[in-house]
Amino acid sequence: MIKVPAAREFSALEKNYLFTEVRRKTQKFLTENGGEVINLGVGDVAFPLPPVVVEAMVKATLEMGDNARFKGYPPEGGYPFLKEAIAGRYLKRGVKIDADEIFIGDGAKSDTSSFPDIFGRADVLITDPVYPVYADSSVLRGNRVTFVRGNKQNRFLPSPRGVEKKPYLIFLCSPNNPSGAAYGHDGLKEWVDFALETGSALLFDAAYSAFAGVGVPSSVFEIDGARECCAEFGSFSKSAGFTGLRCSWTVVPKELKCRKSQVSALWKRRQSVKFNGVSYVIQRAAEAALSERGITECGPAVEIYKKNAAAFTAFFKARGIWHTGGELSPYVWIECPKNLSSVEFFNGLLSGCRVVGTPGSGFGKAGEGFFRFSGFATENAAAEAVRRFERSDLFR
Ligand code: MLT
Repeated sequence: MIKVPAAREFSALEKNYLFTEVRRKTQKFLTENGGEVINLGVGDVAFPLPPVVVEAMVKATLEMGDNARFKGYPPEGGYPFLKEAIAGRYLKRGVKIDADEIFIGDGAKSDTSSFPDIFGRADVLITDPVYPVYADSSVLRGNRVTFVRGNKQNRFLPSPRGVEKKPYLIFLCSPNNPSGAAYGHDGLKEWVDFALETGSALLFDAAYSAFAGVGVPSSVFEIDGARECCAEFGSFSKSAGFTGLRCSWTVVPKELKCRKSQVSALWKRRQSVKFNGVSYVIQRAAEAALSERGITECGPAVEIYKKNAAAFTAFFKARGIWHTGGELSPYVWIECPKNLSSVEFFNGLLSGCRVVGTPGSGFGKAGEGFFRFSGFATENAAAEAVRRFERSDLFR
């Protein structure tokens, strides 16, 4: 036995990560009962990679086996071809980001949980319910966490009004995971203004920006002042089916400064210590996903996830069940019917409908009594889930 103690912060975490626990319970149910379930739990993509992405990987793989063209370590921060493609994606949306403000990573989970490494001990401000990674990584780092609660009254779009004014690391995700709610321009501006006023860093997770529709900012940099106080995280996971490939980016604007240091320089230095980059093959795949053909080929899967979420929403609406999300997001967030707790509803849904979702309580205290359905499924699976809901007593 080793005598080095485990980090004591672990004792403040739940034993299992939320989706590990959902998987464990689902597996236990299947072992005891056999058969299949429809998985609307973790937001994992349901369709294979589009041909343009696969072709780019094949081509890049062949290059890696060629004496004249193989590549060793990727450049720190990513290949210029991908950074330029991402800058081009922003420009199409009217947002000017320079390629040297973009850093390539292996997923928004790693990027959002690692970014606070570059700051000293700071208070963290998080909306609740929340993607558990922000809260768990803050606890592991030993940061004090203040929650701003979402609820039915604010339709799970809490504002910073009433929060003690001091510098925080603020995590914000819109369109939101888990609630599916999305801030409009004014709601997001309140957060940017709060960050500017308090000297906070606003870490904006735009992993679901492909689902944001008209009138909803798909980037925090659509808001005036954001370049002085925000960093943004983007991902290919949900928009291009990269959950198994891993590729993401972080935008750190030149204006973002921490005392005398440029935050982008700190992030670059941190990454050079702890991260050796994303492989050439995957970066070429990501570049292909952003090409004209890539946009055409990646679009249909996103449309199906949106339609699935809309089908769930239509069912809940017809049954008078309070819900949010599902329009500008792949997630639908409901109040558990019959006053059930989140876990009671999870169990009832699993045993009664053989459908897996995610208990709202797993996303924080404010999620108790609520439940998240993910639209990341095939159309057939989503339609079958709705048929099962229709037959179930749970929703009567
Ligand atoms: C989720 O279901 O919340 C996401 O798939 C988790 C993730 O993106 O890491």
